[in-house]
Amino acid sequence: MTSHEIITPTSWDFRETEELSMSNTYEKEGFLIESANKQYLELLKKDIENAYLDFTRSYSKINTSLEQAHLSISHSESNELRLFIMQALFKGTNFHRNYYNSAKHIIHNLCGNELSMQKRPGLSINLPNNLNDVLPIHADTWNGVSPFELNVWIPFVDCSNTMCLYILKRDKYNRRIKECNGLLKLSSDELFDELFDDLTWIPIEYGKVLAFDQSLPHGFSVNEENISHWSINCRFKGLHTPYWDKKLGEYFMPITVKNCTRMGMNYQHPDNWI
Ligand SMILES: [Fe+2]
Repeated sequence: MTSHEIITPTSWDFRETEELSMSNTYEKEGFLIESANKQYLELLKKDIENAYLDFTRSYSKINTSLEQAHLSISHSESNELRLFIMQALFKGTNFHRNYYNSAKHIIHNLCGNELSMQKRPGLSINLPNNLNDVLPIHADTWNGVSPFELNVWIPFVDCSNTMCLYILKRDKYNRRIKECNGLLKLSSDELFDELFDDLTWIPIEYGKVLAFDQSLPHGFSVNEENISHWSINCRFKGLHTPYWDKKLGEYFMPITVKNCTRMGMNYQHPDNWI
């Protein structure tokens, strides 16, 4: 056997080599990066830039590139800008459709093709040195989120060093779980300090998409670079997988319901023939 061959768990695992290879990396590392579909990605970025332009016009501010937003937006305005842009992006479903298409390859390989999608994806704008933009360390599954979800995270600027999402990779997570008890009793600051040496900041450029396992601890620390961070995160899950606190039709919308599912939902048994 060559080193490139992948051992499948059972003879009934019919996934193809590419999918198995991507799945193995995702499972081992807790995340996977690949190129976005550029055509759709650029549509997403244009929508964000246009919404940012509207905000700066509405509040008589200078318009800058996304990277330089901190030259126009103060720390205390960061959240207002974020909500304004989310309102603009998620009015209809065009942005959602383009988001799905920009990351379709990684979503189909890791999650499937009959899907539901988060109705209101999350926008992160982390201005340099803004403590308000910190996302404390957490795993979404600690708060009622289904472990069947795939979080697809797209940067709209190049992210390096403290601009990056950090994660506790799976091997380190598994080791820390074995070693320590009671970590979840710590405050998020204490937990961050406790895990700091084992965290990985994931560098990623505009043009790529990151899929990560949100059952692993992750977050954003203070952006200590001279560039504003912009990214969107959006959850996808197999339509028929279990829903926990975030319900289908509320938090998640079905986006690729296949014909057999549609027909199955409408099936009527001929009871009066019996
Ligand atoms: Fe999260």
